[in-house]
Parts: sequence; C-alpha cells; structure tokens
Amino acid sequence: MSASGADGTGPAPGAAHPGGAAAAPAAAWWRDAVCYEIYPRSFADGNGDGVGDLPGATARLGHLADLGVGAVWITPFYPSPLADGGYDISDHTAVAPDLGTVQDFDALVGRAHALGLKVLVDLVPNHTSVDHPWFREALAARPGSAARLRYLFRPGRGPAGQLPPNDWQSAFGGPAWTRTADAEGRPGEWYLHLHAPEQPDLDWRHPEVRADFERILRHWLDHGVDGFRIDVAHALFKAPGLPDAGPGQHQDVHRNHLMPYYDRDELHPLFRTWRALLDTHPAPPGAVAPRERVMVAETGVFDPVRLARYVSPGEMQQTFNFAFLECPWDGPAMRAAIGTSMAAMASVGAPVTWVLSSHDAVRTVTRYGGGAAGARRARAAALLMLALPGAAYVYQGEELGLPQADIPDDRLRDPLWERSGHRERGRDGCRVPLPWEGGTAPYGFSSAAPEDCWFPQPADWARFTVQAERHGPDAGRSMLALYRAALRLRRAHPAPARAALELDGPDGGEWLAFERGAGLRCVVNFGHRPLPLDDDAEVLLASAPLSGRTVPQDTAVWTKSKKEHHR
Ligand code: NOJ
Repeated sequence: MSASGADGTGPAPGAAHPGGAAAAPAAAWWRDAVCYEIYPRSFADGNGDGVGDLPGATARLGHLADLGVGAVWITPFYPSPLADGGYDISDHTAVAPDLGTVQDFDALVGRAHALGLKVLVDLVPNHTSVDHPWFREALAARPGSAARLRYLFRPGRGPAGQLPPNDWQSAFGGPAWTRTADAEGRPGEWYLHLHAPEQPDLDWRHPEVRADFERILRHWLDHGVDGFRIDVAHALFKAPGLPDAGPGQHQDVHRNHLMPYYDRDELHPLFRTWRALLDTHPAPPGAVAPRERVMVAETGVFDPVRLARYVSPGEMQQTFNFAFLECPWDGPAMRAAIGTSMAAMASVGAPVTWVLSSHDAVRTVTRYGGGAAGARRARAAALLMLALPGAAYVYQGEELGLPQADIPDDRLRDPLWERSGHRERGRDGCRVPLPWEGGTAPYGFSSAAPEDCWFPQPADWARFTVQAERHGPDAGRSMLALYRAALRLRRAHPAPARAALELDGPDGGEWLAFERGAGLRCVVNFGHRPLPLDDDAEVLLASAPLSGRTVPQDTAVWTKSKKEHHR
C-alpha cells in the first residue's frame, strides 16, 4: 500500500472538497492563522508573586515570535473572584489587579503587534461573576424587580418553592439553579447558572445585556485587539419558558443541540450584529493599518452542519473544531472527523479551525496514552493538524509536549472537583505554570519560591523547559523543534484558501494522506503496518525517525515530490 494514492486508491468516498460557496478574500489573515493560547496566570510571572501576569507575558512574547505563530489569544485577565479560573468576571472592561493594569494590557498589545502577532481576547457573555455589580444589585432587589430581569431568576417548584424551577444540570455537576435568601435568611427565588453557582447566567433577551456587551466589544477594540474568542457561544439563549431538558443531559455531547439551553436559532442574528460591529468600528488612533477583526466561537455543538451556521457569511469567522480535539488516536475516526468538518465548513465558505489542546482539555500527550506512546502520537498529531488547510490553535505548553500534571487534592481549584463530589479532578492539570528554564521549579516561571506559585510544577519538568528544548543537548529532537520546523514549513507552503482537500487512504483504513498546497504532502500512519513512501517523495519533516523509506506506526511525515521540489 502506498501513501500517495497513486496506487489507484484515489480520493476516498466522502473526501472533502471545500470552496463550493463564496469565500472571504483569500488574504484574510485568520483563514490560516496559527494562534497561541496564553492562560495568563500560568504563562509567566513578571512581579514575583507566584501568579502569571500581563507584564510577564509581554516579556515572553519573543517565544511566540520565535515559535512562528501569527496570533495570540489571552484567556480572561479581568477582575474575578476566580471561582472558575477567571471565567467568572466582575468587570469585563478592567484588568485584574494581580495581573496588571490597563497600561500593561496596552503594552502587551503594542509589543505583540510590533512582533507581528495579532491579539485576541475572551468575551464571556453567557454569565457574570456573583460579584458583578448587576448581580449584587439583583440579589438586593425584590423578586420581579427590574434589577433581576438581567439574569434568570425564577420561583421554585413544589409547595414552598423548595425545588429548582426545572431539571437543568450545571456543566460542572449538580443542579443549574441556586436558591437565594434574603437578609434574614428567608429562602426566595432561584437563579440559573449553567456553570458554577458563582457564574449566574444573563438573560440575553434583555436589551441592557445586549447593549452592555456591545460596549465591552467596543472597549477592547479601542485598545487595539484584533478579535475575540466567544465563550460558550452556543449557550446564550434559553428556550422560552425554560422547559425541562429530560434525562441524559451532558452524557452525550452529540445531543447538545437538543437541549433547551444550547444552540438556539436566536443566537445567529445576535452574532451578525457583533460581526457588523467588528467590521465597522473605527480602528484605534495610531493603529498601523486597519485589520480585519475576528471572532472565534467556543461552541459545544458537534453536529457539523449546525456548527457551520456559526461561521456562515456575516457571522463569526472561526469556530473551534472540538470533534477533532475529542477524536481518539485512530485512523478511521480521524479521517471521519477531518472529512466531515472540512465538508461542513466548506459548505459555508469557512475554514476549519483545528485545535488539539486548550486550558479545558487533558494535555494531548496524556490523552493519547501518556508516556512515550502518547508523546509519539502527540508529535504525529501536531504535524497532522499543522498541515491541514485552515486555522489552528496551539495551547501554551503544547509546543513543549507537556503532559497533564498531577496536582495534590488540596491544591485543586477547578469547580469540577467539588461539584462532582471529588469524582472528577477537573482541568487544573493542564493549567500548571509553564517551565521556561533551569533545573528546578519554578523553572523561570517566577522569582517566587516554588511553594508560593499558584500551582505546583512537577519535579521532573527540567527536560520540558523552553531553554532545554531550544538549546539543550536533545534540542534537535524536541517537541519545540518539531513545532518550530512545522510552522516554518507551513508558512512556506500555504494552503490555497479555496482548494479542495482530498483525503487519500482507504476508507476505514489506518493511514491517511493529503496535499496541503505548494506541493507539501502529509502522510500519517496510525496502524502497525509500515507504510512505504512514494519513490520521488523527499522528506521535509517527520514526527519520528523513518524506517528506511517507510513510515512507521504513529508517525506523520511531510514530503514533497522531488520533481516539484527542484522545479
Ligand atoms: C469555557 C471556558 O473555556 C472554560 O474554562 C469555562 O469554565 C467555561 N467556558 C465557562 O465560562
């Protein structure tokens, strides 16, 4: 079996052919951008208090430029009581005091732009913190008062209102409702929170909510940002009357769109107004050149056709492809995830936005089996993702091959840990401070003592530091070297914006291959049978050593035809 498709296999049935619909101009920067996600509290600490901050991040942006990404997304740095890692926001247009000041944010944007990096920030429109002035006002107000209408307060069920208003479950476990009590402790209405109780959901049918988020978008555009990542974009509107969801909630993400609180049609006109705002809001004074501002949706929508609606013309430009992230390391499953996503996005003229890792996901190396096998697969997956046409997101530490860290029970912070009755450890293991240099914790992350850093780092991470992977004795074989080389080659081999992607390889088989563009071909072997390369294939990059001219198991290779290469 050859990896070229020249043996007659040809494009498999179901191969994706993007580009059928009208597409945005090919020059749109976001269509093939690689964006690096910074989780600021764990990226770099500038003031030595053990918590990463904006000046620390600014000082380390050179790493991103050296890596070769084109954009950076910074997760929430806004004031927050940190009930959910900063996604519980008490002021959407300010900077958390422990992370810096607005001037520090401006300095970060200035430095990023000087390095040629676009900057995206989070917009968290589904909920606020319980510390937000609106929610404090609502709690202090009477049931039915105007202040409560910005949120979803409801009387309880049962004779004394002692039962939640419906059966909705929080994504973090337990009921999605919490009962209020007045100053004397008398129980009152319930309020909705699809996440932690400290994250009350806003009522998106309230005009003040809409107006306030337009203000927030304009605020950060005036600070020079190039776009927004829209948190739980699929959850803003709830079905009128808040009907019961029925059994089985959160058990099968593929049924999310059937839930009365997800993926409602009312979302799309709202996103169109935001897109118009981004397209028309004037560039801030002093901006070098007008840039197209983008939105990337975080959507728990797994039906590819429904997902494509979020990036249809006039809406957002990107939506994370979680079907790819959640796909097991398995040839047929990967092939299906890639082909289906490409076809769905192509139907609306949008690129696929590939993602393997984030502050919410178990680190790739661990997810793919851990140890040497997991690392080997994560390397192959990186070459697969970075060859695919479309945009890609890289989460801090992914480029170092960090595994999921073990965090002692008493240091866990994720609300999932408490809300699940200590059954789920949650996401803290992928949020451990980044190792930059040196042989012991905190590995250059902070000048604070390791025990004063907000999460402990593993004792054996010296081999994962940026310094070791960039300049150490094994630097040539490091994950960082692989990402740097891949990003360099990716830039030199752009994928045509509207080209067809033909997935080679037998349907249901254990390998796949495709042409990225400019002659670059990616071959991935998931199976145990070695896969011969074409005779004229020149190897540009491989995720693991080849056995002669064959691609071993769990290996990805980028090749170019010798004829093409020397043309
Ligand atoms: C998605 C964010 O990525 C996650 O960290 C957060 O817990 C939820 N949205 C709620 O805001």
